Amino acid sequence: MQKENFRKLKKSLIQARNITSGSLKREVIHGWGIYNSGLLSGLHSFDKTFGGLYGEDHENIKEYIEDRLAAKRDNAVGVELGGIGSTLFKEFTPGFFKRTLGVSLTDSRSEEDKVLDYKNNHHVLALDAFSSYGHREVQKWLGHEGADFIGEKMHAGSVGFSDNPDFLMSVINRWYKLLNKGGVMFLESPPIIDQKSKEVIGGWLDSINNKNLDIKITYKINADLKARGQGGFSEYLGGGIVYICLQKGMYAPDSLL
Ligand SMILES: C[S@@+](CC[C@H](N)C(=O)[O-])C[C@H]1O[C@@H](n2cnc3c(N)ncnc32)[C@H](O)[C@@H]1O
Repeated sequence: MQKENFRKLKKSLIQARNITSGSLKREVIHGWGIYNSGLLSGLHSFDKTFGGLYGEDHENIKEYIEDRLAAKRDNAVGVELGGIGSTLFKEFTPGFFKRTLGVSLTDSRSEEDKVLDYKNNHHVLALDAFSSYGHREVQKWLGHEGADFIGEKMHAGSVGFSDNPDFLMSVINRWYKLLNKGGVMFLESPPIIDQKSKEVIGGWLDSINNKNLDIKITYKINADLKARGQGGFSEYLGGGIVYICLQKGMYAPDSLL
């Protein structure tokens, strides 16, 4: 990476850290409109958010993921980054995942939910998933098994995160490295306001697809809407969010960068 790019990346990482504490404030003081989303159920399910990215051979995202990970059935490991993951993983075929994890700034589950999650071998880490410490803790939890499925759909949780392409690519790559060969991940970017940044990210994703790396990426960028109201939360309605589905083949490289 060039020196100039590295400086920019460092700056945006620092910005992201500040914004994370803003997110935490928002979570604790206001709560989120959308929380603990389902895989298929609800208006903001993973299926609705990532619809259209997994082709037409599968009726929904659950079928798609379970089909992709068929060889790992009963043994798969799943992670939701930026969410507690309780409802998400409850909506897969029971026992499909051997163990699952949600990583969220706070653990908002009721005692009842915790008991149910415990029975399903679902765990929650209350962490900043973007910090080095948070990342290490996720790695530690995964151990040598790695993750077969990673989902990240923070919606308003990522408002105000940097849209610097170097920052976004390094975050995607960091998570990609946690994913096992044969695994699949669905990611939602923060709103990318800058047109040039959108083109750089789109170009990067296209170039991965075109290089015969045994990685298949489908993505969509939602349309720009005029920002409504004031402040960060309404900016989220401004569009420019990239939704990504990435399949990591058995011969895929260990790093995207
Ligand atoms: C709008 S909620 C979405 C929750 C869930 N993913 C869903 O789709 O229902 C935003 C979530 O992002 C999480 N979040 C925001 N910044 C985060 C960070 N730096 N690390 C981990 N989680 C974060 C919050 O804790 C919260 O759970």
